[in-house]
Amino acid sequence: MSAVEIPAGLKELLQGYTVEVLRRRPPDLVEFAVQHFTQLLDGQRKEQKAKRPSVRGAHKGVSFEAKSNKPDVDLEEEEEDNEKSTTGKYNRRVSVCAEAYNPDDDDDNDAEPRVVHPKTDEQRRRLQDACKHILLFKTLDQEQFSEVLDAMFELLVKPQQHIIDQGDDGDNFYIIEKGVYDIFVQKDCASVCVGKYDNKGSFGELALMYNTPRAATIVATEEGALWALDRATFHRLIVRNNAKKRRMYETFIESVSLLKSLELSERMKIVDVLGARAFKDGERIITQGDEADCFYIVESGEVKIMIKSKTKATQQDNPEVEVARCSKGQYFGELALVTNKPRAASVYAVGDTKCLVIDIQAFERLLGPCMEIMKRNISQYEDQLVALFGSSVDLKH
Ligand code: CMP
Ligand code: CMP
Repeated sequence: MSAVEIPAGLKELLQGYTVEVLRRRPPDLVEFAVQHFTQLLDGQRKEQKAKRPSVRGAHKGVSFEAKSNKPDVDLEEEEEDNEKSTTGKYNRRVSVCAEAYNPDDDDDNDAEPRVVHPKTDEQRRRLQDACKHILLFKTLDQEQFSEVLDAMFELLVKPQQHIIDQGDDGDNFYIIEKGVYDIFVQKDCASVCVGKYDNKGSFGELALMYNTPRAATIVATEEGALWALDRATFHRLIVRNNAKKRRMYETFIESVSLLKSLELSERMKIVDVLGARAFKDGERIITQGDEADCFYIVESGEVKIMIKSKTKATQQDNPEVEVARCSKGQYFGELALVTNKPRAASVYAVGDTKCLVIDIQAFERLLGPCMEIMKRNISQYEDQLVALFGSSVDLKH
């Protein structure tokens, strides 16, 4: 019998894996193996890439600005890295792990090329307007935000156009400038419309954050305009920032009693998509009667809830009355999202106040398990109002 030849490097490869297992003690050895060897492969590719001579290429008005002291990378290499096929869609990626990629592990981050799509002043102004309320951008610093703006490119869409198909790999993150977009999710072999974006908001972050297939189908119902951010830039700026966000908010989020029933990984997913907003003393955060699109948790400071009623007999407006206050760790703005009605009260900052903000889509997707607690608290609002106003006033607007 001939001796079996052991390939060069196999022993070191397996030893490396074993050492990492003993060091980190992962719960799932197979999943950890996939992560470990994928990282190894990425490292090898980067090394090879750094050794190759660079070719800078012009490509449909897109320019890549590599950081000065790092090797240049051209577009073809970029596409090769992202396993992009000729159809512009990414080949199916193995769903390795639903946890956010930890960019701190990736010490070669700055070597990624900087994508720049040149824009006219008018385009940049429209883009800045569309980005104003995007929660994922709220924790970026000026420089990061400006890199995001540089990298975004405009897409005009037609009625019935599928922007995203559930199950596909993620290519871009999208911000809505104009148009209405239906959200469909596959449930029991049927496609169910679970909501819509109406001329604002963003979508397509999940597949890019967690390296999972697209979780929903997004279809334009009319002509519209979107701004897209490529996967690589999204990773470099947003996902990298998410690791910082997790560290920043981990302790606070643990202390929010509403979220106590969630698993740690579910709480971290909330952190990944939340935005932070600061309000000055007296600033109005919510206006009674407005349409609702987000949910708030007080991070510091205090807010007061004020209700304006009408006298039933005369239908005359009464002055606003304070009905409640919320302080650190408490939430507000859930009622309109749960009942699908306009905001039932106005909310004002008392002193300088910071709130964490979650948009309606993330609220519905991630806070389902907390719904019972919220509904229990909502049922107390009615008693509170009857005690305060009696039955001579009308609270509907
Ligand atoms: P992604 O999975 O990348 O692509 C589809 C997008 O739809 C998803 O990111 C979210 O941004 C968005 N979306 C909106 N509502 C939902 C939902 N209920 N479930 C999953 N994704 C949703
Ligand atoms: P929402 O109606 O979305 O916006 C105003 C918020 O005020 C409401 O959700 C609740 O979170 C909060 N609130 C607190 N107390 C009351 C109350 N008695 N009636 C209505 N809203 C209240």
